[in-house]
Amino acid sequence: MAYGKSLSFPELIRKKRDGETLQREDIKHFIQAVTQGSIQDCQIGAFLMAVRLCGMEPEEMLSLTLEMMSSGTVLEWPERWHGLVVDKHSTGGVGDKVSLPLAPALAACGCKVPMISGRGLMHTGGTLDKLESVPGFSVHQNAEQIWKILDEVGCCIIGQTEELVPADKILYAMRDVTATVDSLPLITSSVICKKAAESLTALVLDVKYGSAALYKTLDSARELAQSLVTVGNQMGMNTAALLTKMDCPIGRQIGNSLEVIESLECLKGRGPADLRELVTKTGGYLLCMCQRAETPEHGSEMIAETLDTGSALRKFQAMLEAQGVKHGVAEALCAGNGDYFQVLRHAEYQEVLHAEKEGTVETIQALPLAEVLHELGAGRSKAGEQINPSVGAELLVTVGEHIAKGTPWLRMHYDLPRLRDGQRHTLQAALVISDCPPFTAGSRITEILTPEGMRWGGTEELSSASSQHIQI
Ligand code: URA
Repeated sequence: MAYGKSLSFPELIRKKRDGETLQREDIKHFIQAVTQGSIQDCQIGAFLMAVRLCGMEPEEMLSLTLEMMSSGTVLEWPERWHGLVVDKHSTGGVGDKVSLPLAPALAACGCKVPMISGRGLMHTGGTLDKLESVPGFSVHQNAEQIWKILDEVGCCIIGQTEELVPADKILYAMRDVTATVDSLPLITSSVICKKAAESLTALVLDVKYGSAALYKTLDSARELAQSLVTVGNQMGMNTAALLTKMDCPIGRQIGNSLEVIESLECLKGRGPADLRELVTKTGGYLLCMCQRAETPEHGSEMIAETLDTGSALRKFQAMLEAQGVKHGVAEALCAGNGDYFQVLRHAEYQEVLHAEKEGTVETIQALPLAEVLHELGAGRSKAGEQINPSVGAELLVTVGEHIAKGTPWLRMHYDLPRLRDGQRHTLQAALVISDCPPFTAGSRITEILTPEGMRWGGTEELSSASSQHIQI
């Protein structure tokens, strides 16, 4: 089928298959047909595979991102919010609850945070699933409601709406069934088009690498981060990326309800150091990139202050109430010494596992823990599957600590199905004990990619789409 001067779909697919460069018009034609349903599924699949195998030139990737963004509503904000609208995106990790404290902390610093998040798939938890363990919380908010919540509270955490980037929804579902999820240009355009549709000033990407991340090596994660930073900046958002290690879980709590509890602890100025570091550092960069802090360090201090003074917690409570949680429920969660299980459902069974030998905790492998939790109902294998928010695990020891044989190290929370012996063995093998001396675990953040020419807090334009690395 040909539209005016547009290429026919077979010709467009052939061009990409043979490694030729598509023009902006070709990509526009393809994305419009995807959105309108005027192209066959097999043609979409063939196009995606051609991109997966041949890659895309930078200008094709930018055209794809622009056209995907334009396939739906692009959010518009009032003039008075100019320069204040920010967000972050994580490629997904075990125990990654950073968004929950970060969005209200940024709001407490005067930013507007329209955080459009996702659900968990396989071993990584989704921010929306975590928040839905709070009774009454609704992730469904239309554009008008988003405006109102941002105006009154400053942050919201919501699901993708029907109007926003519909082309991505269709293409993502097709990628899932055509073995084309792991394509750099397709990931880049999918992530960035959604953020661009939020009309952001600044975006920080947390690109994870390691045994429990999608990207196993630092080099592969850096390649993705570079691509995201380049296209994000070309799309007009100040975009930077943190490369962070994802081998052992973030914080001490994994599982939907338990991660809400740990986020509340962080918002009360407590909680684990690694979670606080990710929240303060990510927030520090964002505050600097939207010129509310002079340096990332200054920005981190501002975020830390919101955690220590309770201003971020008050924003979180206001966000819960604005998104449907009853005042009494939100207040019970946010009270200084709240009994969280008054409000959140406790799993029926708890079981503590004990260390099988003495030594230093060298690491706690996140992937096997997450896989067992997934089998117990904490995660989903296909979009739309029900999950059990009460299933989870609490780490009772920290990496680097010396422990005696028999030390309780993990508390499992589950309903039915119950924990099986094979799963107990998998969990025990996740605790790696060695005879090295005790140590303090270092930062998870290994590297930061910023756009070249960016001067923190300065007025210099983001002069180039290429990026520079800062080794930590
Ligand atoms: N998240 C997205 O939104 N898209 C991808 O392709 C991968 C992760």
